[in-house]
Amino acid sequence: MPTHTSTDCSPEPEAAFVRVDDICQPLDWGRVFPARGPVHLDLGAGDGGFAAAFARENPGVNVLAVERLLGRARKIGRKAARQGLANLRVLRLESGYMMRYLVPDASVAVIHLMHPDPWPKRRHWKHRLVGEGFAAACARALEPGGEIRLTIDHPGYLKEIIACFDAQRALEAFRWLPGPEYPRSDFEAEFAGQGKVVFRQGWRKVSDLGVRE
Ligand SMILES: C[S@@+](CC[C@H](N)C(=O)[O-])C[C@H]1O[C@@H](n2cnc3c(N)ncnc32)[C@H](O)[C@@H]1O
Repeated sequence: MPTHTSTDCSPEPEAAFVRVDDICQPLDWGRVFPARGPVHLDLGAGDGGFAAAFARENPGVNVLAVERLLGRARKIGRKAARQGLANLRVLRLESGYMMRYLVPDASVAVIHLMHPDPWPKRRHWKHRLVGEGFAAACARALEPGGEIRLTIDHPGYLKEIIACFDAQRALEAFRWLPGPEYPRSDFEAEFAGQGKVVFRQGWRKVSDLGVRE
């Protein structure tokens, strides 16, 4: 009797999963990744198309993909395992919690925010990831000169996100435009195929002034 399904044969996705022993203690990047390197976070990483491509093309960079849906997190883990990406790790958790409680101060080089869920209906806006507290947590987590890179197709949420990050005195907005070699996320590729307009914006940590939560 056959005992294997096709998923049984795929590489073990859990090998790339980050285990959080204590949900009240900041992570130790030296334990999360096997080698030292700048830490990039991909928040709401989806199926991990961007995170895997970025990790593959930047082997000296440590990429943590954060995704709350188990099925998607497992897909990212499978990509890391299949492609032998030791510098790609997956955390299955709510990004807001992670930013507030699990990221050590001034330890992140880049936060990638690619198509955060816009929750278009007003009564659902409370579910949006980016708010004042989240922006403050990002400012605290970034190392000096560290960046937030935002890609989004929803003008209303874009406006709200801009207001939140602009309110952080430690952050300075800049025009972020990725080159053609920069990997596209899965949603970006899909939206490009639909001819949707995508907005981009960056913020850089210029000081520790006004970092508060
Ligand atoms: C619109 S998709 C974008 C996926 C990917 N960034 C891309 O551009 O292809 C948003 C993803 O974020 C995840 N997500 C939404 N809110 C989240 C949260 N608070 N914490 C972690 N993941 C979240 C969703 O499950 C989904 O996979």
